[in-house]
This record gives sequence, C-alpha cells and structure tokens, in this order.
Amino acid sequence: ETVEYAAESYDLGGHDTYMHKEIAEQADAVDRVLAGRIDDRFATVHLGGLNLDAREARAVRRVKILGCGTSYHAGMIGAQMIEELARIPADAEPASEFRYRNPVVDPDTLYVAVSQSGETYDALAAVQELKRKGARVLGVINVVGSAIAREADGGVYVHAGPEVCVVSTKCFTNTVVAFGLLALHLGRIRDLSVKDGKRIIEGLRKLPGQIAEIMKLEPQIEKLAQEYAEARSMLFIGRVRGFPVALEASLKLKEVSYIHAEAYPASELKHGPLALIEPAMPTVAIVPDDDLLEKNRAALEEIKARSGRILAVAHQEQEKADRTIVVPKNEDELDPILMGIPLQLLAYHTALALGRDIDKPRNLAKSVTVE
Ligand code: G6P
Repeated sequence: ETVEYAAESYDLGGHDTYMHKEIAEQADAVDRVLAGRIDDRFATVHLGGLNLDAREARAVRRVKILGCGTSYHAGMIGAQMIEELARIPADAEPASEFRYRNPVVDPDTLYVAVSQSGETYDALAAVQELKRKGARVLGVINVVGSAIAREADGGVYVHAGPEVCVVSTKCFTNTVVAFGLLALHLGRIRDLSVKDGKRIIEGLRKLPGQIAEIMKLEPQIEKLAQEYAEARSMLFIGRVRGFPVALEASLKLKEVSYIHAEAYPASELKHGPLALIEPAMPTVAIVPDDDLLEKNRAALEEIKARSGRILAVAHQEQEKADRTIVVPKNEDELDPILMGIPLQLLAYHTALALGRDIDKPRNLAKSVTVE
C-alpha cells in the first residue's frame, strides 16, 4: 500500500535543504496535530483512532514505549508526560533492545510503538512479537497506512506531513505533541483535574506561536554555530525533562555535522563526564525554569569552575553560561517540546558551516527497513 502526498509538499519552498524547510514549518505542523482534537468542555482531547475505551484506559497499569533513533527520544519524553499527567508508570526503550531480550509481556501494560515512517524493521518486529503474545499495541506514527499503523490496534497519527530529510525534526516535535495529547487524554480519564487539563490545553495552544518566536532566533543561532563548528566533541546535559532533549540534540548534531557529541543526565556529571571538561569540549545545557533550576545552575557552576565553555538553552539568561539561547516558557510538562528546537537549528547551521550533505548524511538512511 502506498500513500500519495500532494506534490507541493515535496517542494523546497525557497529553502536550500529539506532540513531547513522542515525545521521552519514546525509551527504549522503542530497546528495540524492539534487540529480538531481539543475538547474544552471536558478539558481533554479526542483521539479518534485510539481504540481504547475509558474502562480499558483505566485498567492500564503500565505504559511501555518502543521506537528507534529520534522516535525513541520522542518516546522518552512521552513516557515522562504520561507519568506526570496520567500517573501511570511509563518508560521508553529502543525497539531493537526490547525485542532481543525476550521481554516479559504483561497483559496490563499498554505498549506504544513510535515511528515516523511506520516501516522501521525493528519497531515493526517488536509490534509483531507483542501482538503474537496477545498484548495491546498502539502506534504513534506519521505515515498513514504504513506497516506499523496497520499492525497496531489503534493509535495517534502525528500529521507532520512528509519528512524528506534523513534526520527527523518536525516529526520529532509533532510526535512529542501527540504524546502530550495522549497523556492528557489518559490523565483526564484517571486523576488529572479539570484545572490541570485546562492548563495543559492552554499550553498546547500556545505552542505554534512560541515555535514561531523561536524561529526568530535563527540569526543568533547561526552565529553560535560558527563558534561551535570548530569543536571536535560536545557534551549535552539535561535533567529529567531536559535529559531526552539533550539526547535528541546530541543525536541531531552528530548526524548532520559529524561532530562527536554525547548526552548525559546533568546529575551524572561527577560520575565521569567532568573528566572531559576543558575549553575544547563545549557543553550545551538544557536549563528550564522549573523546580530543578537551582540544581541545573549548580551543574553549570561545576563546569565553569573547570574552565568549560557553556551554551545554555533556558528561559532566562544564565550567568554561568558563556551564551544563552532564551526560549519562551510554556507549562513545565510541555517545555521539552520547545527546548530542542533551537538545537535543531544549531545542528543545521553547524553542518552548513562545515559543508556537510545536510539532507543525506553519510552512512544514514531515512528508513531502516532491514534488520
Ligand atoms: C533512521 C533515521 C532516523 C529515525 C529512525 C527511526 O535511523 O535516520 O532519523 O529517527 O530511523 O525511524 P522511524 O521512521 O521509525 O521514526
């Protein structure tokens, strides 16, 4: 089965690369994943394809999210949102790891497969194994009618539109928003209050405008990229909500610029990565204005004390950082959706400065449909 896209979706629309086009169209993409789904009356959302009634949703004891690459990172944020908003224990795991370790498949667990293409072999094989063992599996998928979408019991389409660049940007953002919707939906069937439901809905509605604000930072980020293009290696740190953002930002940078990058939870700094800190090893720190702000500032101080260079992505200027990219604040639970966007631009401009083949990085494929 093939899916037709309107020809204009493949037009570069004046951009030099698909990566740039796809980063730039994220405000519109998020509008699409939200469209028609918000229910103000009950402070919840409608997800028409979920195939999970309220009684079944209440019986879920655990959520296990599976995906590969960027989809796995989006799933990590999704797991945190589901735990926070629905108070269901949730975690994400690379689909390949899951399927090779003979997992215990539990009837009270809701399994969620995440995939842009819906064709990634490891994710598809994990879904088939789960189905074979009688599990309930949902998909959070971009390509309508794709293999995983057909195999799953139901799910949420992320409606990002076609993504051509090998590295995923708009689809990551839309997938995380889709998880926000799923978490809100599950939360409102369980213990999330009307007040909190309304608060999250307000936050969701703000996203497209805030993404447009972040895009205005591009000239600043382009300059930063010139500075960082010389680095041989970079460290990305974040704590709790910031950690998957750091992981995804480091993946983006290494995929398109070929600069070595690794991500660590900020809390793990003193258990190893501090040994790497020196001026030639810059750190990118995710520093949201939430209850962990002071802890994150302390981490910046530790890096500074060892003469590390720091670029912070934060909601306010960070004194200890050499540079700060200030992004708009949303609700704490939704901040991870926004904080990675400037770092997509950083990866893009760094790759551009280094003359890389941005839409087709060496050795990588858009869809990995083999084992
Ligand atoms: C490949 C792509 C990545 C993508 C991953 C998972 O590695 O290069 O950008 O995140 O596959 O793809 P999926 O289509 O399942 O999200």
